[in-house]
Amino acid sequence: MSIVIAVDGTAASGKGTLAKKLAAHFGFAHLDSGALYRLTALAVIEANGDPKAEADALRGAQTLDFNRAGDPKIRTDIVGQAASYVAAIPAVRAALLDFQRSFLAQPPGGSPGAVMDGRDIGTVIAPDATAKLYIDARPEIRARRRWQELKTMGIRREEGDLLRELNARDAADKSRPVSPLVQAPDAGLLDTSDLGIDAAFAAALDLVSPKIESALKDRQRG
Ligand code: CDP
Repeated sequence: MSIVIAVDGTAASGKGTLAKKLAAHFGFAHLDSGALYRLTALAVIEANGDPKAEADALRGAQTLDFNRAGDPKIRTDIVGQAASYVAAIPAVRAALLDFQRSFLAQPPGGSPGAVMDGRDIGTVIAPDATAKLYIDARPEIRARRRWQELKTMGIRREEGDLLRELNARDAADKSRPVSPLVQAPDAGLLDTSDLGIDAAFAAALDLVSPKIESALKDRQRG
């Protein structure tokens, strides 16, 4: 197993940005697991399927095109909502498990470690992760960040609608029977509500560094 940093948390909490920065800092590979669920949802929508129907959702997971992970289409709130529906279906999660575990076992580019962000990384995908973080922020702050993010993409939305959607999606993610969003007991909690990106990154680094530095040293010793 490589060195693994598991980053879980609520929607638009800043976990993706932190995961990317942590990966760059340690020279680790990064996987946004949410993109897998979003790509699954996109495949279902493009095939005119129903994201709540198991057969359609499973076909989406089996036909998703990872080359489209950078496609801005997957970042829309419609796809985000559909991602939450497909993510509640056990067969979909099972279909996406191997990809995620292989990524962690052998991070691309021969890198010694991987950072993965999502909802169930520290609890289900990598319960033995070297270090775990749980990222959260007050809902109003997260809605504002999502509003800003969508605006940059040229999408104008009402902030109040985004807040309602985020709250609904979090509630669904936390209450589903399969792989619910929950803070792992050994995850460090980081609330980014009142922190800018640099301060949030410094706090994340403080939480994970001791474990990661010691794992890297063990590796060098062989
Ligand atoms: O960017 P945002 O935080 O809004 O969402 P995301 O991380 O891209 O995830 C979109 C949806 O996929 C979530 O609402 C979850 O329902 C689902 N998801 C999941 O179930 N498990 C993961 N490891 C990652 C995402």
